[in-house]
Amino acid sequence: MAEHTTFNDLPQHVWPRGAARQEDGVVTIAGVPLTEIAEEYGTPVMVVDEDDFRSRCRDMARAFDGAHNVHYASKAFLTRRIATWVDEEGLALDVASENELRIALAAGFPPERITVHGNNKSDSFLRLCVTSHVGHVVIDSHQELAELNAVATECGRIQEVFIRVKPGVDAHTHEFIATSHEDQKFGLSLASGSAFRAAVEAIEADHLALTGLHCHVGSQVFDAEGFKLAAERVLALYRQIWEERGVALEYLDLGGGYGIAYMPEEEPLDVTAVAGDLLSAVREAAAELEITAPTVVVEPGRAIAGPSTVTVYSVGTIKDVHTSFTTSRRYIAVDGGMSDNIRPALYQSEYDARVVNRFVEGPETETRLVGSHCESGDILINNAMWPADVARGDLVALAATGAYCYSMASNYNSFGRPAVVSVRAGHVTPMVRRETVDDILAREV
Ligand SMILES: Cc1ncc(COP(=O)(O)O)c(C=O)c1O
Repeated sequence: MAEHTTFNDLPQHVWPRGAARQEDGVVTIAGVPLTEIAEEYGTPVMVVDEDDFRSRCRDMARAFDGAHNVHYASKAFLTRRIATWVDEEGLALDVASENELRIALAAGFPPERITVHGNNKSDSFLRLCVTSHVGHVVIDSHQELAELNAVATECGRIQEVFIRVKPGVDAHTHEFIATSHEDQKFGLSLASGSAFRAAVEAIEADHLALTGLHCHVGSQVFDAEGFKLAAERVLALYRQIWEERGVALEYLDLGGGYGIAYMPEEEPLDVTAVAGDLLSAVREAAAELEITAPTVVVEPGRAIAGPSTVTVYSVGTIKDVHTSFTTSRRYIAVDGGMSDNIRPALYQSEYDARVVNRFVEGPETETRLVGSHCESGDILINNAMWPADVARGDLVALAATGAYCYSMASNYNSFGRPAVVSVRAGHVTPMVRRETVDDILAREV
């Protein structure tokens, strides 16, 4: 799919499915001009293409044999409206903190379709899981297992659980987001026997019901082999549990991590092909191990939320900086930055940005797109060739900012978090209002 694009193009596999450029050069999402949204809601503003988000829920549901097998990873981006879309599409939901669970419940998300993660769940979080009747709690330690059993006993409920297993697979990705090798905080080790011991403890616990195992090999993964290898290794534990305890587990939760294209030259992972491959690998491995193949469930976050959203900024100061006697770089500053998108600073992530209020032209200039924070690492795009006529007041949008941008946003430099709106069929609906200094001051005591 690698394609040559010119600056005014909107690469289809990176931008929301509803993105288009009008004849006057203005970019629209779901028929709504981004200029109008910027005018009404100010900048930075995040614009979510609802149909894009929903269509990716459906793609995943088709690929994995049913919506209930797909647990949207809410850490990517969660608001009550998003939880409602996920519910309406029939997907399940994965939450990773007490407040994510509270937001999902506030949206009326059916608790039995919620799976709960977290490496350090507090007593109140565990209690909320049990009392709100969540579908599954994914156990991350022996200690948590004992505590959850105690809470469930006190509440007189049997809580269904999965055990998070470290299969020791390093799916090739950035180190900070590779979560299944041994030396990291999540899960229980397969190799050391800790995962098996936890499974036995869960089977023996009088108020827990072990119904599956979970693993997550990393994020922004493009190589299906990592998922398959992890699945095969974890299935060996299903065999051991069956052999030694006579328990056949119903589910295999393979986590998230499905990669998306952030840049025109990247290819998004083919979800249908990978899912097909993965499901048959699981069936074959189960047949070889002579066990009943568990139902595979997955937890995509980025692949559903990521491509649905663009962040629109206003261009402010433009500065040409000499990088040597003969070369220079243009610094274009926008009115947001690392407080609304920490990923370039944290993971050296790359983004595709375009001017969205008009066509731009002119000789290409080495350009760095920076934010407005008091930090030289506040860079959104490190180096790109941009036409020279980009000017103060232009609107620039970064594509594929739906995952891990708003959900990782901060108040650095006392910036308020941006406004979020959703668009569908020519209509804009505000989703989250812009955070103001009054909001920030209101928290002070
Ligand atoms: C346990 C678990 N499930 C699902 C996800 C979602 O990953 P992604 O957004 O890459 O699909 C993550 C991300 O960190 C995770 O830790």
